[in-house]
Amino acid sequence: MCGIVGYIGPKEAYPILIKGLKRLEYRGYDSAGVALLNGDLTILKKEGKVSDLEMHAEGKNKTGTVGIGHTRWATHGVPSDLNAHPHVSNSAQLAIIHNGIIENYASLKTELVKRGYTFKSDTDTEVLMNLIEDIKKEEEVDIEEALRIALNEVVGAYAIVVIDKANPDKIIAARKGSPLVIGIGDKEFYVASDASPIVEFTKEVVYLNDEEFAVLHRNGDMEIKDLGNITKTPYIQKLEMDLETIEKGGYDTFMLKEIYEQPKVIGDALRGRMNAKEGWIKLGGVSEFATRINNAERLIIGACGTSWHSGLIAEYVIEELARVPVEVEYASEFRYRNPIVTSKDVMIAISQSGETADTLAAIEIAKERQALIFGICNVIGSSISRVSHAGAYTHAGPEIGVASTKAFSTQVAILMLMALQLAQKKGSISASRLRQILYELEEIPKKIEEALTLNDEIERIAAKYFEAENFLYLGRGINFPVALEGALKLKEISYIHAEGYPAAEMKHGPIALIDENMPVLFIATNKSAHEKIVSNIQEVKARKGKVIAVINHADEVIEGLADDVIRVPETEELLSPLVSIVPLQLLSYHIALMRNCNVDQPRNLAKSVTVE
Ligand code: AGP
Repeated sequence: MCGIVGYIGPKEAYPILIKGLKRLEYRGYDSAGVALLNGDLTILKKEGKVSDLEMHAEGKNKTGTVGIGHTRWATHGVPSDLNAHPHVSNSAQLAIIHNGIIENYASLKTELVKRGYTFKSDTDTEVLMNLIEDIKKEEEVDIEEALRIALNEVVGAYAIVVIDKANPDKIIAARKGSPLVIGIGDKEFYVASDASPIVEFTKEVVYLNDEEFAVLHRNGDMEIKDLGNITKTPYIQKLEMDLETIEKGGYDTFMLKEIYEQPKVIGDALRGRMNAKEGWIKLGGVSEFATRINNAERLIIGACGTSWHSGLIAEYVIEELARVPVEVEYASEFRYRNPIVTSKDVMIAISQSGETADTLAAIEIAKERQALIFGICNVIGSSISRVSHAGAYTHAGPEIGVASTKAFSTQVAILMLMALQLAQKKGSISASRLRQILYELEEIPKKIEEALTLNDEIERIAAKYFEAENFLYLGRGINFPVALEGALKLKEISYIHAEGYPAAEMKHGPIALIDENMPVLFIATNKSAHEKIVSNIQEVKARKGKVIAVINHADEVIEGLADDVIRVPETEELLSPLVSIVPLQLLSYHIALMRNCNVDQPRNLAKSVTVE
């Protein structure tokens, strides 16, 4: 949440910051701002998008070879010009950008007010800025020491970058609980929440660890220390990201591009990790810990949102194939109880961003109680991947649309491989069944391609329903999580109220909602529950509900009942979510466009939820 970017070096900073903010805008987009050092400290900030900031900056002084920029997702204080970052200290000497939350900001603010400080905004960030200034003055220390002392006093999460008018030859960056990456150029440094603003300038990066701060000098020197003032040796890594992966590549939106990338990225996720002909699966992280995972008392899946939905699919698949008990937990709830976790448990943490605060906190609890942590993340080098004992990357490439699509399908593919590898090791699957599923898995990218050809037909269906105020999504068995995911996609980007339910639960309550205005989308691809699903469809039709059904080719029974059908290619039932989710993603996409919604940056949401 919130995107931050900084630059120091020989180039003009403003164009670099603006470009970087546009790339980071998926992290938050209620206001944006920059601070530049040019003999003076220039602050330009504006409520709205980065494009609003650019308009606001027209004709103003934007010079300076050191600067910081921010795009905000509001926590403390409404979106406004005043609450936009950067925030400046009372002396107007220092400026800060911040991603995260300072939890004890209220008590710190009270103390600072007593000492004569005044505040222009409602933010916790302005409090941190003035705390640093106060320490700098009172203790007569340099800016980095003041920042270090201040960060020892704050409780909460932060990634910050600070500049000082009196010291235009350095910028200082620090992190705890919010990501921060430093790009190293030729006598220049870039700092950002993720590598997307950096990748076109350099491939050499350092991921700052929690409770570390970096002092980046214009002459190319970099010092990294922890908050105890111990010097750290920077670990320089090579970025694997390419520029084209973070651009729209001819599509109107990132979301559409990412939906269409699914065949390719599933292929990438599977490549080198399985071979149907030879009957093997080799997911690096699983190989080493397979015995421990198979012998676990329970696998606890911890995740949020869409990642939680892929966890629910994994519960079906792992229990079916590997016969290990699985519990799927909302990480955001797990952390607020006193869960029973022991060293015999394994936590599988699933996260696209690898930065979700709730998932990180759930991991912390499970780790304290000696569980093995297996992380499934998309973002390489992310916090969750680093705190896990073992894990697997999904290799979906950067996902920029706030609504998750390709990250979901690659998570499901990886979890499927994990289940198969565990089952093979345990001997709970026959060699022929294993091959059968692996062959089907290899076919999935083609079947998704085929499902994508339904786009025009889905657009026509969207045109019939886009004015609906409510939607029900129903599925049985493994299609229940697909119903949840379809409903989440619709509400996230179109703001239509949508509920996902197990189809069999309809009669226990939601059936009361059904009338001629209620579209009900059935995911009806499971052969195992076909008759039961048909009965549920009959129940909806009997109450005049409108039925849209996702079916396999040639399902005459359902075609005869439903108002609209979407025919997706048939596959092995355990793999069917990978295909049946595609029309649901497209349906929500078209409905959102027809309602004039911004699909890539839906209101109130942010891509990576780094606050609790
Ligand atoms: C997905 O469309 C959502 N934007 C959201 O639910 C997301 O899946 C959730 O915040 C978890 O994120 P993560 O996978 O990065 O941990």
